[in-house]
Amino acid sequence: MHPAKSARRPAHGTVGAGFAKKLFARPAERRLKATLDEGLERIEVVLKNEVQFADDIADVTTTYLLNAGGKRLRPMLVLLAAQLGPNPVSEQLDRAAAAVEITHLASLYHDDVMDEAELRRGVTAAHLRWSNSTAILAGDLLFARASRVFSELGADAIRLQAEVFERLVLGQLNETIGPREGEDRIEHYLRVLADKTGSLIAAATEFGVMLSDAPVEYRAAVREFGESVGIAFQIADDVIDLSPDHEATGKLAGTDLRAGVETLPVLLLQQRAEAGDTDAADLLDRIRTRVADTSAGLHDPRLAIPGPQNDVDPAEVDAIIAELRAHEVTSETLKTAHEYVDRAVAALDVLPEGVVKTALQEFARRLVERNA
Ligand code: IPE
Ligand code: IPE
Ligand code: MG
Ligand code: MG
Repeated sequence: MHPAKSARRPAHGTVGAGFAKKLFARPAERRLKATLDEGLERIEVVLKNEVQFADDIADVTTTYLLNAGGKRLRPMLVLLAAQLGPNPVSEQLDRAAAAVEITHLASLYHDDVMDEAELRRGVTAAHLRWSNSTAILAGDLLFARASRVFSELGADAIRLQAEVFERLVLGQLNETIGPREGEDRIEHYLRVLADKTGSLIAAATEFGVMLSDAPVEYRAAVREFGESVGIAFQIADDVIDLSPDHEATGKLAGTDLRAGVETLPVLLLQQRAEAGDTDAADLLDRIRTRVADTSAGLHDPRLAIPGPQNDVDPAEVDAIIAELRAHEVTSETLKTAHEYVDRAVAALDVLPEGVVKTALQEFARRLVERNA
């Protein structure tokens, strides 16, 4: 079936709950899972209410991506981290979790404009459905609403959200501009990941600790955990970008490469090319000349979105992406993701042993093994 017209909920669309099912297989963990499931259901109600603006034109666009699916990983992390405190369930926590997800949602609208993405959460990206301006404004509205919700939660929450917002934008900006003259490209890439993805995931766990009144010393630990998890998660996402299975991923393969965003597999390829590996140099050259910034594959005929015809055969683009995916640099990339998971797991050393700590660590491990 045509992906843009598919009415199914994306395979990755039934949320944290689906993820939680795998995460909490053992009987002792079932109670925790039930608590999280209930929380996610409550948060879904808050989300539905908060992405509406009493303006029928705006609402069509702001509800669009929420209704399309999403894993709700960030709200789940808020709830999970909140289990560390004496007040693990509250309306405040639900609202913070929803506001974190709305911030994420807003960033997706903007990101798809920047990346000229075609598919998001299994549906046609908002800027192609309407226009760039519409998608940017929908994102702005959602950022504004997230700020309003955070403003109910006190100065500490507002400050944390503002810091995240800054880092998110700086991450996207630095990714767009690229490394400075002489800057190590991999270091630059990892800094971008920490800012654009790590900051919000770290804040999700921090909100959980903060609003459940957990011991204050847990805050730095979960922040470090979330930041490393975020980097690992984004590295894994960069590998998912190479997956041809758009039914599972909800995205079109090679979106980053087509937009000229060079992720870790490409950076490692460049390292090899510089060290004299001619096969690596050849593949790198084809990525840069046949895939990146050529509008190759944009408006892929399989999506039937009207757009400019390109001079590069989409099958050639697919083949180049498949070659990169099968290359050693991609397994090396995943190895790096696992190293960040190990860092995340270690950051939780200060937490008391128990089902919550184990669940957070297991959460981190599973994030890099996902395919969507
Ligand atoms: C996508 O995030 C953007 C990244 C930071 C990699 P998710 O993979 O959490 O997207 P949804 O919410 O499930 O759609
Ligand atoms: C993550 O970057 C986007 C944000 C943090 C806003 P990507 O551009 O890699 O994410 P996907 O792959 O489009 O979801
Ligand atoms: Mg993108
Ligand atoms: Mg991007």
